Amino acid sequence: MMTSTKVKPLLVNYKTLEEFKRFKEYGNQELAMLEDLESNIVENDSESPFFGVYYGSALVARMSLYRVRAKYDKYFVPPQDYLELWKLEVLPDYRDMGFGKDLVEFAKSFELPIKTNPRINSHGFWEKMGFQKANYDVERDLGENPLIWMPTGVEERNANA
Ligand SMILES: CC(C)(COP(=O)(O)OP(=O)(O)OC[C@H]1O[C@@H](n2cnc3c(N)ncnc32)[C@H](O)[C@@H]1OP(=O)(O)O)[C@@H](O)C(=O)NCCC(=O)NCCS
Repeated sequence: MMTSTKVKPLLVNYKTLEEFKRFKEYGNQELAMLEDLESNIVENDSESPFFGVYYGSALVARMSLYRVRAKYDKYFVPPQDYLELWKLEVLPDYRDMGFGKDLVEFAKSFELPIKTNPRINSHGFWEKMGFQKANYDVERDLGENPLIWMPTGVEERNANA
């Protein structure tokens, strides 16, 4: 599959952490990364779970990807490793330029199923990206409205079976 060369893995360093402050979804994850860097728990320029798109030298879009192991998979058949995608966000001035799509296509290029818990009002975007609502399972999905995407050959688990 074609992957965008625009999408870069983001390293944990002070510059990246400063750029993260421009995003609305900034919270515990970013603060923990900053603390780990300050207390030398992680080295400068170590890998982060984030990927981003730069416009010139500015980070304008980002997402976090986490690989969930098969033994914790409650979404797909057969149970398998999948990607949890979160904190997908494009800065307001750079929306509708294809950067959100670039990030999602990059995530798809791993050829693993993807799960995300979308923000309100972004359903149109996810639908365009080929994501579908997971069959709602109250125990599994409490407080979430998971959307999933599956590569060829993967099926959704029937949560209510
Ligand atoms: C949702 C978000 C990640 C999309 O990223 P983006 O870079 O703006 O989107 P793209 O330019 O990659 O759009 C890809 C396609 O999805 C469509 N699209 C984007 N946002 C959409 C939306 N909210 N509803 C319906 N379609 C949407 C685009 O028109 C485009 O369609 P095309 O391929 O036919 O041209 C981004 O806008 C964002 O971070 N928004 C912040 C908050 C939010 O969720 N807003 C939703 C609207 S209030």
